[in-house]
Amino acid sequence: MTTLADFDMTTLKTELRGIMALISVDRRARKPLHRQIYNSFRHRIILRQLRAGELVPSSRSLARELRVSRLPVLNAYAQLLAEGYFESRVGAGTFIATSLPSQPRSLGAEQAPINNTSRRISSRAAAMPQYERPVWAGSLGPFQIGQPDLHSFPMDIWSKLIARYSRRVQVKGLQYGDPMGLPELRETIAVYLRTARGVHCEADQIMIVSGSQQALDLTTRVIVDPGAAVWVEEPGYWLVHHVLRAAGCRSVPVPVDTEGLDVAAGIRLGRKARAAFVAPSHQYPLGVTMSATRRLQLLEWAQRSGGWIVEDDYDSEYRYNSKPIASLQGMDHHDRVIYIGTFSKVIFPALRLGYIVIPPDLVERFAAMRQSMDLCPSHIPQAVMLEFMREGHFARHIRRMRPIYAERREVLVTELARAFGEGAEIVGDEAGLHLALLLPKLRNDRQLAARAAKESLWLSPLSASYVGKSPRHGFVLGFGNTRGNQIPAAVRQLKRLCAASS
Ligand SMILES: Cc1ncc(COP(=O)(O)O)c(C=O)c1O
Repeated sequence: MTTLADFDMTTLKTELRGIMALISVDRRARKPLHRQIYNSFRHRIILRQLRAGELVPSSRSLARELRVSRLPVLNAYAQLLAEGYFESRVGAGTFIATSLPSQPRSLGAEQAPINNTSRRISSRAAAMPQYERPVWAGSLGPFQIGQPDLHSFPMDIWSKLIARYSRRVQVKGLQYGDPMGLPELRETIAVYLRTARGVHCEADQIMIVSGSQQALDLTTRVIVDPGAAVWVEEPGYWLVHHVLRAAGCRSVPVPVDTEGLDVAAGIRLGRKARAAFVAPSHQYPLGVTMSATRRLQLLEWAQRSGGWIVEDDYDSEYRYNSKPIASLQGMDHHDRVIYIGTFSKVIFPALRLGYIVIPPDLVERFAAMRQSMDLCPSHIPQAVMLEFMREGHFARHIRRMRPIYAERREVLVTELARAFGEGAEIVGDEAGLHLALLLPKLRNDRQLAARAAKESLWLSPLSASYVGKSPRHGFVLGFGNTRGNQIPAAVRQLKRLCAASS
């Protein structure tokens, strides 16, 4: 199997061969051409539109572009080299001098706050929480959430399929596609969902999207208006909260207990809610599987009130002690459930490929809304994914990964129980790629997570998943991309950090 090197951003170069810098000359002007070219480059370097290390066009191609002889260009380049704006590297070309300061303007720090009277933005954008890349997202390491085992993905097969796609692609694959996605892939996903997830669906109800996140956003745009009340799980998936804020909706946090979302509490807290966002197979972050009673209550609420249920089924391919639980959508006889799935956990998250199963009467509205967002999904990943599924690699990969994840989860549960004993509660380990560790004595899980990140331990604080004012503290621990032999030391490290903070 191909081994994947860990990604290193510092190797990225600032070379863009063949792109012409915006240099202009006026042949009728009194100023000589070489001076105009010199001034134009100098001006753009000072404005930092051209930056240290960037490639300069060859004198021949710039002369051709400007429709002048080569001589004034050579003269201007000689001057810029002499003054240290340019540097030449033998065999490579001429570059903007690397000795020039290259720091891009930093975002945020010294800028005036936006949304003052002269720089007004939408109230929805202003209400969004500050953008911050979560500390655990920046690097690979123990307990990082949301990651499958990236090193075990069969990259050799995937790259062969990409190569084959590139050899055989037809012109129609290069055009704008259907906003719903590639018909053959939708057909294949429909078979998979009917068979493995008990979803009631036909291919024409399936829309291919760029992961669950786009699905959540698009669904929200179609089913609710700004100002509408929407039930969210408390605690729940933080990016659902962001989507609802961006849409101007009012999130109504509904408590989750050992049976999942408490429907009776939802009715008490937000009778007029237009929709409920739930993850019934493996609730995020607590990992609860919604009981049959709650499922029926939720469906009845939706049917009676005319509300919608958005089912986020993001990682239910992996269940450890029982067979996969059928989807909530499969129990719905009134087309009130919008079902969302993703390939992020079974393939890899950077693929950005997921799907929505849309009630038949809403398909056209979803397509119209999707067209306004990004026209259609990208062809290449869909075509490669289709072959990956058709040739059996998808099913084989899931089968191969299940015992690997099961073992990691086993080691993690054993080690946590040994380290924390009665001092902690482990929940949600029956399925998926994460579990929750509840630490009743811990006062500030965010602070501890920040401290742990300095030691490359990526802890996702549980309190960040709450909307309300009395969160529980603890951590969501991913084990998908944490090797079994890393776990004991990582648990000891976690225990040490917790002990130091108490
Ligand atoms: C609750 C939940 N939904 C969905 C996703 C997947 O998102 P996407 O398909 O956009 O990668 C995640 C990822 O961690 C998640 O935790």
